[in-house]
Amino acid sequence: MAVLPPLPLATFILLAPILYHFSSPPALSVVILYAHSASIIIWLTSIPEIRLLLQTVLGFSSGRALSHSPSEMYGLQHTLYNIDVSPQGYWFNMGLWDEKNMVFADGCRALVHKVIDALGGQDKVRNTRVLDVGFGCGDSCFMMAEEYGCNVVGITIEDSQYEIAQGRLLKLTDTLNSKINLLKGSATDLSKLLNPKDKFDIIVAVDCAYHFDTRWSFLRSSLGHLSHSGQIGLFDVAIQPNAFNHPLKRWLFDKICSGGNIPVQNMVNADEYEAKLQEIGYVDIHIERIDVERVYGGLARFLKQHAANLTEAGLELSFGNYNRLITVAKVLDLLCWGKWIEPVVVTAKKPM
Ligand SMILES: C[S@@+](CC[C@H](N)C(=O)[O-])C[C@H]1O[C@@H](n2cnc3c(N)ncnc32)[C@H](O)[C@@H]1O
Repeated sequence: MAVLPPLPLATFILLAPILYHFSSPPALSVVILYAHSASIIIWLTSIPEIRLLLQTVLGFSSGRALSHSPSEMYGLQHTLYNIDVSPQGYWFNMGLWDEKNMVFADGCRALVHKVIDALGGQDKVRNTRVLDVGFGCGDSCFMMAEEYGCNVVGITIEDSQYEIAQGRLLKLTDTLNSKINLLKGSATDLSKLLNPKDKFDIIVAVDCAYHFDTRWSFLRSSLGHLSHSGQIGLFDVAIQPNAFNHPLKRWLFDKICSGGNIPVQNMVNADEYEAKLQEIGYVDIHIERIDVERVYGGLARFLKQHAANLTEAGLELSFGNYNRLITVAKVLDLLCWGKWIEPVVVTAKKPM
């Protein structure tokens, strides 16, 4: 991204005020003043974020469809008509990006598979009763019912996601539909949402428990809804030991967490996480640390490629969508660089 202007432009931007100060006659000063303003505008509009912001604020977009040369009849301009923009899924997790050329759904499904593998693999999960907490728009519930024949109860807190998931559920086959029951409410209100007698072999929370207020109260009430030797399986986030030893860093991190709906009590390192699970009463605890590159790095690469593909196809990105893709990708790159937080896959059992 060109943030700094090219050298001649930068030199003129810096020297113009001096030229203006010493110039005479007044007509020359006016020319310098206009040229200076114009060069600053040219520089600013060369920065993609500012250009997109201006396009959005001024209410126009270049709306570039795929161009074709005047010597051609059609060129590639019908590309736009051939793009299917209906979502193939409604995944929301960070994904696990171990393979090349993965699309978003591949990454997200791989993350669910990672949790299933940590729970003992498909033989352990097949035909079990699963509680899927923080299910987004239902993809992981549908996946576990379809791939492993699980009977799934799902819980989400958000109205919009619940409505989409219910609509998608109605479109499934009767066999699949009968295996899935979606509920709306909070992970921290299991006692209100479930009957005390409702027991599950597995409780999963994929990329969401750090939001629960608090994760520990959710895990405590989960224990009461697990069958004997039932397991929890989470994809979650821990902080790196010593990442926030400095009070200023910790203060900034706490502010970022509260802005991102993450209770600060949830932000512990992997050893503290394990100790909390023990204290709550879980046994056979395993916490696998996942390299940031496999999660945040992979997602950042996908988002940048996705933005490039959209633009290549003629779908100019609005300022909002540019932020959703490129700015998020840059934040993810920063997380890879700083290594302040680490993705973890957590499994634990209820004692016999
Ligand atoms: C990053 S998304 C992951 C969604 C989904 N598990 C997936 O793999 O696509 C986090 C989800 O957690 C949900 N969530 C956050 N706090 C929650 C709570 N207290 N109870 C239930 N769901 C919650 C959000 O609505 C969101 O759908």
